[in-house]
Amino acid sequence: LIEHKNLSYPIYIEAGALERLGEMLLTFYQGREVFVISDRTVFGYYRDALFAALAAYSVETVIIEPGEGSKSLSTYEDVARRLIEKGIRRDHLIIAFGGGVVGDLAGFVAATLYRGIRWVQVPTTLLAQVDSSIGAKVGVNLPLGKNLIGAFHDPELVLIDPKLLDTLENREYNNGIAEMIKAALIGDPILYERLKENERVGIEEIDRAISVKKRIVLEDPYEQGLRMVLNFGHTFGHAIERAHGYKTYKHGEAISYGMLIALLVGIERKITPKALYDDVKDLLFARGLVELPLLERKDYVKEIAYDKKQRADGLRFILIKDIGQAVIEQVDL
Ligand SMILES: NC(=O)c1ccc[n+]([C@@H]2O[C@H](COP(=O)([O-])OP(=O)(O)OC[C@H]3O[C@@H](n4cnc5c(N)ncnc54)[C@H](O)[C@@H]3O)[C@@H](O)[C@H]2O)c1
Repeated sequence: LIEHKNLSYPIYIEAGALERLGEMLLTFYQGREVFVISDRTVFGYYRDALFAALAAYSVETVIIEPGEGSKSLSTYEDVARRLIEKGIRRDHLIIAFGGGVVGDLAGFVAATLYRGIRWVQVPTTLLAQVDSSIGAKVGVNLPLGKNLIGAFHDPELVLIDPKLLDTLENREYNNGIAEMIKAALIGDPILYERLKENERVGIEEIDRAISVKKRIVLEDPYEQGLRMVLNFGHTFGHAIERAHGYKTYKHGEAISYGMLIALLVGIERKITPKALYDDVKDLLFARGLVELPLLERKDYVKEIAYDKKQRADGLRFILIKDIGQAVIEQVDL
């Protein structure tokens, strides 16, 4: 069991942690009722395990359709209505049980319903375990763009059970690996070596990736500066996702191409060693995250103009000096 305690909420990482969910709630929640938000796929796999873990509670469930399409205002409204119909009160507890879509949506419901309800995250994808469940950013998409509506809303607890990843499809698993490679490149050389050596990750690698994000979030909780290093690979990554209508490439695949482009920019500016580019490329190929022909920056520059992270005075871009060392540079589009 690994415990992180210096965010305002604890993060527990343990194989089999789900079984202990009920007992963990007792440390801060005196109520009898819990309201679980999950998606149909996750709930299909883990319904019984979840009810067993929450045997001491009266459990209401709101199940949404899997997929990014559910991170919408219409699903938000639907979930809020169903929770109210099931009798949720302001002093009740919401449990987000699913990947990043469920976490972002359920967290946004928790942030806003009755002006804020306590909530717990049980992330079930690797991406959600190492990334989206940490940092308290919650929200939904608009047809105009992703994550345009949202809030910061700390959960009471994040419970990470790597055993839940056994049912995850390979492509989804590697989608999480891409964010772990990113975390390693901006903040942890040992994690980078581990990711090269092992195809599957365990609690130590998950803990290391979380630690990188946590360290950065703690220094910049409201995303005013440093936190942008977490966007390494994401400027082009987002452009690639958007240019292909969010269909062809998964987020982790798009940022993998984006990281390679950012490494090339770094080589041109004499910040990134060429050998590092080759090494990262080999790793991303080995994980099926990129394939030939590699996507080229010239095809996506136009899209970047729409990126909400772009500043009027140019583009602040994350480059890598060496494994574990990110720098923020002003670049011209
Ligand atoms: N809040 C943040 O800081 C943050 C950070 C990164 C990403 N995100 C968001 O996260 C979302 C992507 O999250 P995701 O990649 O987890 O996608 P997801 O939630 O859509 O899950 C991917 C698929 O895996 C299935 N699944 C989930 N857990 C499973 C399990 N244990 N076994 C089998 N199948 C399982 C889901 O049903 C879904 O079909 C995006 O909307 C992104 O914007 C948020």
